[in-house]
Amino acid sequence: MTRINVTVDGVSYSDEVEPRTLLVQYLRETLGKTGTVIGCDTSNCGACTVHLDGTSVKSCNVLAVQADGHDVSTIEGLATEGQLHPMQQAFHECHALQCGYCTPGMIMQACDLLKENPDPSEQEIREGLEGNLCRCTGYHNIVKAVQQAASAMREDAQAPAGSAVPAGGPEAPEPVPAGVGAAGPDIPPGAGGRVGDGSSGGPSGDLSSGSSSEGARA
Ligand code: FES
Ligand code: FES
Repeated sequence: MTRINVTVDGVSYSDEVEPRTLLVQYLRETLGKTGTVIGCDTSNCGACTVHLDGTSVKSCNVLAVQADGHDVSTIEGLATEGQLHPMQQAFHECHALQCGYCTPGMIMQACDLLKENPDPSEQEIREGLEGNLCRCTGYHNIVKAVQQAASAMREDAQAPAGSAVPAGGPEAPEPVPAGVGAAGPDIPPGAGGRVGDGSSGGPSGDLSSGSSSEGARA
């Protein structure tokens, strides 16, 4: 076993992990962060995408020990103070999800894309998301959502300090649909891959069970 110290969604954790443990397994099974999901386990689908030191990575393709000393952000840390991130809000408003299984990874990848390119063309969005597979939506509304989020985020960036209105307006947000927020989607039986088969910690499992985290507010 190897001890790692890692910050996840702003919280510091120190845990013993096996050298072979994947980052996605550590997030889900040790920390209970099941908002990050496993779709293929072979770095094809992008469902497990998180940010490592601000850059998107497929967390099934990174060992937990490689995150030692680094900063990880997941879909669960995107909303702040109960306010959806503009990308989450746009996915909600543009109906950019159906089953929602690809959504956490898609949103994390889209956020990374906009960091590099705040005003991408449709083609650039499609190319930027080509590592994230969605088998429900046909991608059309996903592209629309990224365009809407990009526009909202550019407006926020241009607004005078303290005057930015959150994307979606100043009113309280509607309840977060499955997949857009932190809890992750409900997975129908047979939804594919290793989802909910117990080997990777099912999304409906007890989030506290099995956790050896020694996390503390940073
Ligand atoms: Fe990581 Fe599919 S689960 S890319
Ligand atoms: Fe993308 Fe179902 S909404 S896989």
